[in-house]
Amino acid sequence: MKWTSLNDLRESYLSFFESKGHLRHKSFPLIPPADDKSLLLINAGMAPLKKYFKGEEEPPRHRMTTCQKCIRTPDIERVGKTARHGTFFEMLGNFSFGDYFKKEATAWAWEYLTKVLEIPEDRLWVTIYQDDDEAFEIWNKQNGVPAERIIRLGKEDNFWEIGSGPCGPCSEIHFDRGPGYGCGRPDCAGVTCDCDRVIEIWNLVFTQFDGDGNGNYTPLAKPNIDTGMGLERLAVVMQGVNNLFEVDTV
Ligand code: ALA
Repeated sequence: MKWTSLNDLRESYLSFFESKGHLRHKSFPLIPPADDKSLLLINAGMAPLKKYFKGEEEPPRHRMTTCQKCIRTPDIERVGKTARHGTFFEMLGNFSFGDYFKKEATAWAWEYLTKVLEIPEDRLWVTIYQDDDEAFEIWNKQNGVPAERIIRLGKEDNFWEIGSGPCGPCSEIHFDRGPGYGCGRPDCAGVTCDCDRVIEIWNLVFTQFDGDGNGNYTPLAKPNIDTGMGLERLAVVMQGVNNLFEVDTV
């Protein structure tokens, strides 16, 4: 892996997913579409695309990729205290609207990180939703991730939803920055420790439900893929800097 600028990372991601048949779309505005009353500000790459996930509108293509400007406030109290939390950030994402599903999404994520960015496999960890045996098999058998590097977690960690809208079980990829960045405790729990050593870089959501925000889920007509990788977090990894605020934005 070699030092890569923020702008080069953005371009490399979007062109990688173009090479996999995705339509590249520029970032949608931070203000949600007028007909989405559930949000004040766009908080994820998928948010401006909800109507395609729900099948309410036909997308321009069933595979799309964006680098979406986002504002996310649930973590606002943590900003400045951890290396990895911010309020404004750009989210790299690839989306399938009833097209490809887990096999392709995980294979391409692994290919991008380990082949394009050349991140060593032994610095990556994968988490999956506790009951998702299918995701375990795909990561392990298809993508070659050793079983001991695949961790099962519960709904709080590995089921993605934010307010109401399309949601589902997810699988996250984490990067180990090394002992120098962590809490230093001999019993540091790594992926599940709250310290800044092992940080989540990419969330792959297997979007299968429409949630009403009150714990009620209606299955969507077709399974979808919604992924999100924080561009600035990826730059922290690729530039070897301490935190989001030290990233070189050239
Ligand atoms: N929508 C998912 C997220 O924001 C990818 O983490």
